[in-house]
Amino acid sequence: MSDYVLKNTVSKDAFKYGYLLKKIFPYIKPVLGRAFINLLIAIPLGLLDGVVALSLKPYLDLVINGDPEKIYMLWGHPIHIQAAFAAIIPFGIIAFALFQGVLKYISNYLTDWTGWKVSNALKVDLFKKLTHLDPQFYDVNSSGLVLTRFLSDPDTASRSIIESLKSFIATFFGLVGLVGVLLYNSWRLALIGCTIMAIAVTPVIFIRKKIKSVSNASMVVGGNMTTNFNETFSGNKIMAAYNLQEDQNRKFENQIHQQFDLAMSLTKRVGWMSPIMYFVCSIGIAIVMAYGNHLILTGQMTAGSFASFVTSLLLLYKPTKTLGNTLTSLQGTFVAMGRVFELFDLQPHIQSAPDAIKAHGLEQSIEFKNVYFEYEKDVPVLKNFNLTVKKNETLALVGNSGGGKSTVVSLIPRFYDVTSGSVRLDGIDIRRFELDSLRDQISFVFQDNFLFSGTIRDNIMMGNEHATEEEVERVVKMSHLDEFIATLEKGLDTYVGERGTTLSGGQRQRVAIARAMLKDAPIVILDEATSALDNKSEAIVQKALDNLIQNKTVFVIAHRLSTIKNADRIAVVNEGELAELGTHDELMQVQDGIYKKLYEMQFKSQEEAQEV
Ligand SMILES: Nc1ncnc2c1ncn2[C@@H]1O[C@H](COP(=O)(O)OP(=O)(O)O)[C@@H](O)[C@H]1O
Ligand SMILES: [Mg+2]
Repeated sequence: MSDYVLKNTVSKDAFKYGYLLKKIFPYIKPVLGRAFINLLIAIPLGLLDGVVALSLKPYLDLVINGDPEKIYMLWGHPIHIQAAFAAIIPFGIIAFALFQGVLKYISNYLTDWTGWKVSNALKVDLFKKLTHLDPQFYDVNSSGLVLTRFLSDPDTASRSIIESLKSFIATFFGLVGLVGVLLYNSWRLALIGCTIMAIAVTPVIFIRKKIKSVSNASMVVGGNMTTNFNETFSGNKIMAAYNLQEDQNRKFENQIHQQFDLAMSLTKRVGWMSPIMYFVCSIGIAIVMAYGNHLILTGQMTAGSFASFVTSLLLLYKPTKTLGNTLTSLQGTFVAMGRVFELFDLQPHIQSAPDAIKAHGLEQSIEFKNVYFEYEKDVPVLKNFNLTVKKNETLALVGNSGGGKSTVVSLIPRFYDVTSGSVRLDGIDIRRFELDSLRDQISFVFQDNFLFSGTIRDNIMMGNEHATEEEVERVVKMSHLDEFIATLEKGLDTYVGERGTTLSGGQRQRVAIARAMLKDAPIVILDEATSALDNKSEAIVQKALDNLIQNKTVFVIAHRLSTIKNADRIAVVNEGELAELGTHDELMQVQDGIYKKLYEMQFKSQEEAQEV
């Protein structure tokens, strides 16, 4: 179980770069061509900065300080160098901007295209994973945490890895180009300039840790906020009924404050960096200026070289800083990747065995054999549970709340697996069946049935997507939905809100029953299917249920006496053990029996109430 609990922050694999790259590679592979072109384009894009600085030298030396008489012979024609450059340079600027613009466009397009492709492929697989994880995963993880991981991490992992790589390459070549220009103009000055630049950017390395810890902490806060949102949605009636709005608001305000504190703590640490770097750089530039003046005055350097040099030095500041940031964000990318692949690596505890066989209906019986079960380690919920239910028998499960009735029935479709012992279908351990085929044999109606956003028809057809119109009509009638549907303007095609909120409890149950009828599975499990209803809705839902369970093998957990009495046998589940088993009449004979007591305490009053 513990391997299901997601850690809030850094996953265990966040720093295994090789492992993560190997994991993400299959997703990048289909877009490899374009990703590669994109990275290639980043090289000239990066180098272009250097071109600007480099071109200053001929501009100053040949145009501004040029000699109008200087002539160059081209194919026998004399060309005035100063005039020629003066004419060419404006066009050069335009051509340069155009070239840069086109490259930038292609590069952005490719970055987005490849980024989205990779991120989408990751998300599709991740969603597949989430839908196949078993209930236990959802028991132990908060919705906010799962959502945050699902919504932001794949983007960070894929989109920004390409973005960061591109920016890394562009800045790297930017640096190479600019340093090249520096060296070209004066290696001595270059040495001074680069040393100072290196000193200026060292603080970037030290704050990286801080950034990482803050980003992890904000992830936790973000997850809590999402959980808070979800609870406000799902629990809004309880919230209103108990006037919990204030509490929820307070929680939210706390979270907002935490976020603020985190953001500001980062700003406090990081905010001074830029000014300091700038200050150190200005010292560097001052030194370069002084020394440069000396070189010019002593004739060791031209004014053009110097201007070009200073420009490259100024331009160098940005990519140097960016390189630091890119390294930081690349780090963040790996953290996100670690979290994504941690989800991927979760193996559903409940899966089909490799040599699984297909389940085909039920011929003889369902059997619980020496079943022990625990949700949490060393907290046994079912203890040595033994029970055989024959084909087409109806078994009622009764007992005090928390005794383990729901747990017993949730083992049949393998929502959870037994801790020891086995559940058998016609003598075969259910773990030997293909999971899908096992679940195809079972219809489940819960106390509160979930309807998906869509129409009533959509929700019913989930029982059998190939059902014909006649079959749908038939189950609508059998589940006593027809009268209600007739009152709807759009009939079966009426849209039910998320979770079916626009229907009453009884209507929702009947839609769920129609869905189960259409599925027509041989085993039917009813877990308190009428418990949440008032008497009037209960009566009609009960009629629908009676139609559903015709000729089926039925497990029914109910509080309604007539349902229990009508069952072929009754099993009393008490503190995780099968305490009594038999017909109503048999169990009433047991002296001091649990069933007899339950009957006298609860059921009898129901009976009397109904007789009145
Ligand atoms: N998802 C779960 N995780 C941990 N414990 C659970 C879970 N569901 C039920 N339990 C515990 O198992 C015991 C049996 O619960 P349940 O089968 O729901 O009882 P019943 O349906 O008879 O009311 C209870 O003590 C309950 O707290
Ligand atoms: Mg229950």
